[in-house]
Amino acid sequence: MEKLTITSTFNVYQSADELPEDVKDLMQQAVEVRKTSYAPYSHFHVGAAALLDNGRVVLGSNQENAAYPSGLCAERVAVFQAGAVYPDAKIIKIAISAAAEDKVVDSPIPPCGSCRQAIAEYESKQETPVEIYFMGETGKVYHSPSLQNLLPLVFESKYL
Ligand code: THU
Repeated sequence: MEKLTITSTFNVYQSADELPEDVKDLMQQAVEVRKTSYAPYSHFHVGAAALLDNGRVVLGSNQENAAYPSGLCAERVAVFQAGAVYPDAKIIKIAISAAAEDKVVDSPIPPCGSCRQAIAEYESKQETPVEIYFMGETGKVYHSPSLQNLLPLVFESKYL
């Protein structure tokens, strides 16, 4: 028996003000689109902004449904839209912001497991990393240099 150790390293910004200018702008777009979230059940609002290599920014917000599992997270709304509208473009980076109605979310909110798996598919398809920046409503911003860094031992098409 041997051990396999996998390490993930994140860059931590103390606030969105510290972000590089282009990322600050992308995060601002995530904050804006968060306001379009349809979350009457969880009251938890998420916005995602994906920058593509053609210069376009594709936005998404979480869309809930009375049949709960039929809803979709902000990140997947954004990356599926990117795949549908710009199928040949690569996703360079995604900014994510989350806010609740009854409290201030001040810790970085990472993408859920299903969204990680969905973004991993594009990372694998385009063969370049997708950077992920995520935050709450305020406070620190975590930066993952790739999706793989957030989802070690990812299941991908090469196993099929
Ligand atoms: N949500 C997202 O939009 N992204 C995530 O990565 C985590 C969760 C949404 C789904 C649901 O509408 C609400 O947040 C509460 O789970």
